[in-house]
Amino acid sequence: MTSKEVREKYLEFFRKKEHAIISSASLVPENDPTTLFTSSGMQPLVPYLLGEKHSMGVRLTNSQKSFRAEDIDDIGDNRHTTFFEMLGNWSLGDYFKKEQLPWVFEFLTDEIGIDPQRLYVTVFAGDKEAGVDKDNESVKIWKELFKGKGIEAKDIELITEEKGGELGTQGGRIFYYGAKKNWWSRSGVPMNMPVGEPGGPDSEIFYEFTHIEHDPKFGKYCHPNCDCGRFMEIGNSVFMEFQKQEDPPGNGRTGGTFKKLPQRNVDFGGGLERITAASNDNPDIFEIDLFYDLIQAIKIISCKNYEGEDKLSMRIVADHIRSSVLMISDGVIPSNSERGYVLRRLLRRAIRHGDKLGMKEGSLATFASLVAEKYKGVYDSINTNLVAIASEMQKEEAKFRETLSAGMKMFEKISKEDISGKDAFILFSSHGFPLEITVELAKEKGIKVDKKGFDEEFKKHQDLSRSGSEKKFKGGLGGLSEIETKYHTATHLLNAALRKVLGEHVYQKGSNITVERLRFDFPNSAKLTDEEKKKIEVLVNEKIKEALPVSMEEMPLPKAKEEGATGVFGEKYPDIVTVYTIGDDKNNYFSKEICGGPHVKNTSELGHFKIKKEEAIASGVRRIKAFLE
Ligand code: ALA
Repeated sequence: MTSKEVREKYLEFFRKKEHAIISSASLVPENDPTTLFTSSGMQPLVPYLLGEKHSMGVRLTNSQKSFRAEDIDDIGDNRHTTFFEMLGNWSLGDYFKKEQLPWVFEFLTDEIGIDPQRLYVTVFAGDKEAGVDKDNESVKIWKELFKGKGIEAKDIELITEEKGGELGTQGGRIFYYGAKKNWWSRSGVPMNMPVGEPGGPDSEIFYEFTHIEHDPKFGKYCHPNCDCGRFMEIGNSVFMEFQKQEDPPGNGRTGGTFKKLPQRNVDFGGGLERITAASNDNPDIFEIDLFYDLIQAIKIISCKNYEGEDKLSMRIVADHIRSSVLMISDGVIPSNSERGYVLRRLLRRAIRHGDKLGMKEGSLATFASLVAEKYKGVYDSINTNLVAIASEMQKEEAKFRETLSAGMKMFEKISKEDISGKDAFILFSSHGFPLEITVELAKEKGIKVDKKGFDEEFKKHQDLSRSGSEKKFKGGLGGLSEIETKYHTATHLLNAALRKVLGEHVYQKGSNITVERLRFDFPNSAKLTDEEKKKIEVLVNEKIKEALPVSMEEMPLPKAKEEGATGVFGEKYPDIVTVYTIGDDKNNYFSKEICGGPHVKNTSELGHFKIKKEEAIASGVRRIKAFLE
């Protein structure tokens, strides 16, 4: 079965069960500062799981683009990928366990045709600390479901994550694991959840690849949560009915307690790629249709077979290229911080493994179209932006190659013995080697890298640049990168341009800046016309070309208002405020705003301004996303 078939069948299955199909959110989360990337289907739905009404109803389903940076080191085995699609269905206070478990079982066995003999499930063993009981209800439901397929499903009490390897499955089908394995929240186990975070017990489904021999490296016997590869998790139903709350004083607990959410939710997530692999009874996720052409191309260009060490490199190249393409199509560009840095690491690691395989320089960007092809009709923005995506990949490769040979020379010099954190940091800061490349190169030579030392150097460097920028911008925001400072000034230009083009009713209702873009929310009843957008862009770029000085002055709040400085609506200002003016003359300025800064000294530093998107975020509120090239 192909991933396309599985995706379509899943959405259709739940559509028939009265679920509204919603589109995948971007990999870059909109309103969630807790993670850099969207890493599960529920993430964009948190407000609705907490009780807000969703306009599409109480039953939702989709296939969500997801990325998990924490899995980068695992790439190379048969089942981990950094990017994946999560098939999801949600009940927002509607159905619960007795509908959810039968539906997902029916989907896997009857729709996709997976042999129920190969399925194993886990349930929550209960947790005293969290005050949540063992999930006997799910056990009962699972027993019935397996019985319906002529399978007696024994539940085995003795297996735990710690003891599983000693005991084995003992002919069981249903297993109890504690909070580490069978509790789900965005921040993991109950103890780690911040106050207000929703979560709950879950029930995972595993597929058994019977032709894979257990590897005793992972414990004497195999069990569903063993990491040897015989069992693969393919789906997880989270019964999200709890919310972390403050500890009542004197209750003696340290982990916090839970209250019931106003509604009982179901949050199901199933890995599309994994379910596809299971449906084909092939444990190698890199052999499903989504990766097939990519792996073939890598084989042809490198003249290597998909085996041994080369197989590992091929999987890394395929995974990282696919993730990079998806990320760039959602607006991420390579840089040295946050999301951009994750992308840079993926691309550079792919380049190095491509080199290891003997692939030609510049091959990687040519693979972008192979990825795009697979998502036609699913994520069309990849195809529309294909040229720009390939060019971004090409640029990053060129940049890396500028320093690669000097870096390799340095590496050869320092790799006579274990590598210090300081040297690893120089390799990063001067030669653009992300830490994992240095670690991998060192591993090939049988030496170690002081990763902790690297982190310390990294932090030291960040602290230094932070105190530098604090000095430069008295009272300003520490740690802002140069590019963010530029976006800050561009935001003022945009605000002023909007007021000139649309009218004085425009003011800053919200603003958010990353190293990749600015975002600006403002009141306006209508969608902007193409002509208006063009006018705004032209005006901002004119002001950049005019090389206007940016000056800063402190003054009492009433004076700032008298001078016509704009501010953020609803913001409480101190008596003395800082006012930034863009323009030559006190009376003939382009923009004057009350703002903490920092800003560039002159608009000529900004480059070219471009509006990427204009949309409504609420009735009468528009949002513009724009970037500097
Ligand atoms: N949110 C759940 C997960 O990511 C379904 O596993």
